[in-house]
Amino acid sequence: MADGNSETKSSNQMWGGRFASGPDAIMEEINASIGFDKKLYGQDIRGSIAHATMLAHQGIISAEDKDKIVHGLNTILSEIESGQFEFSRRLEDIHMNIEARLATLIGPAAGRLHTARSRNDQVALDFRLWVKEELQRTEKALTGLIAAFLDRAEEHAETVMPGFTHLQTAQPVTFGHHCMAYVEMIGRDRTRVRHAIEHMDESPIGAAALAGTGFPIDRHMTASALGFAGPTRNSIDTVSDRDFALEFLSIAAIAATHLSRLAEEIVIWSTPQFGFIRLSDAFSTGSSIMPQKKNPDAAELVRAKTGRINGSLIALLTVMKGLPLAYSKDMQEDKEQVFDAAESLELAVAAMTGMVRDMTIRADRMKAAAGSGYSTATDLADWLVREAGLPFRDAHHVTGRAVALAEQKTCDLADLTLEDLQSIHPQITAKVFDVLTVEASVASRTSFGGTAPNEVRKQIAWWRARN
Ligand code: ARG
Repeated sequence: MADGNSETKSSNQMWGGRFASGPDAIMEEINASIGFDKKLYGQDIRGSIAHATMLAHQGIISAEDKDKIVHGLNTILSEIESGQFEFSRRLEDIHMNIEARLATLIGPAAGRLHTARSRNDQVALDFRLWVKEELQRTEKALTGLIAAFLDRAEEHAETVMPGFTHLQTAQPVTFGHHCMAYVEMIGRDRTRVRHAIEHMDESPIGAAALAGTGFPIDRHMTASALGFAGPTRNSIDTVSDRDFALEFLSIAAIAATHLSRLAEEIVIWSTPQFGFIRLSDAFSTGSSIMPQKKNPDAAELVRAKTGRINGSLIALLTVMKGLPLAYSKDMQEDKEQVFDAAESLELAVAAMTGMVRDMTIRADRMKAAAGSGYSTATDLADWLVREAGLPFRDAHHVTGRAVALAEQKTCDLADLTLEDLQSIHPQITAKVFDVLTVEASVASRTSFGGTAPNEVRKQIAWWRARN
């Protein structure tokens, strides 16, 4: 039977494994964030320099102390960048690691840096700066992917392929038009990135622990020194808020979802059955046992990264959902999710940009597939409406009979004879054959945003002017 002692004993046996030295070691393990937040060293040092400079400007610390602090922080920056800095888990996080080193380097003046500041606004600042910079990198990367698609779209403005619904052949489209669908999606992702940069363009530093400070600080000064549009307006919100991280993750999840759909199409298109594209060797692998194979591994991994990124979004939403205002240590769990999602997204966009640029388009295969599956049936129905004055529903019915006849004769619609077609509807004339080819079909779709090559070229020009 378990009594108090045996419980303690069995718990201690657990510590006897990884946490040999008991409660202190467990606390250090769960509490320390230095393992991952050391990534924020650059932002932390920049934030501290701006803060110290403002403190001196406001007469809160002396100019001498400020100079020592700034010099010390720059020394630490080069120590970290040259790999000489020793991070200590005992010091918990990046903020305390840097402050402790500063004290060793410059002595008591180091203690003045934390005047009118708390780790709560400090971490909010560092992380916000990091996310803002990551969004700027994402914006650039998405622009590169859009550029890759614009080039392929231009090259293939006239290349006919089947357009699908339900992955069943629907109507002919051009490959250029299909590429431009991704340009629209990725363009919206980029707009979301730009909006997020605007949303988060406020400086948290100076909110202090949660209530602001009695020192005569100038938050506008630190905000502009750090490149923000201005300071945040509510100190409680400032140290509680992680929506900038959530916004990044939701944008990343949507963008990754777009990339995943593209990845899925690349996987399908590169099968021998479809054969619409050939992937370059750079983005595919061979099989160790089946010599004929070329596997679309990069596309598959992009598809899989989406799961990871979506997971990060859900993880942080769940961390935040029950937290009372203001700061709680739960929020330390924000960073790994964002870092992991950011790395996954960067890699996914880079891989996709490479694949889009490198893949070989097999226009012959696309065209052959576009012509099968009665893809011009709608064109026949539209012709009956236009030329024979039939209501669309009747034209649809007549066309259905034509498709049934073609199926019975195992040929395409364009291969039916005029007599065949006239047996179905007497008003059909030889002119109908002008619309039954896939080229005629796409050329006729001139509505704004439609698949006609000239329309697609207009959209390419519109995007080129904005990319
Ligand atoms: N490492 C902490 C984090 O990432 C820094 C803030 C600590 N603040 C505190 N009051 N313990 O959230």
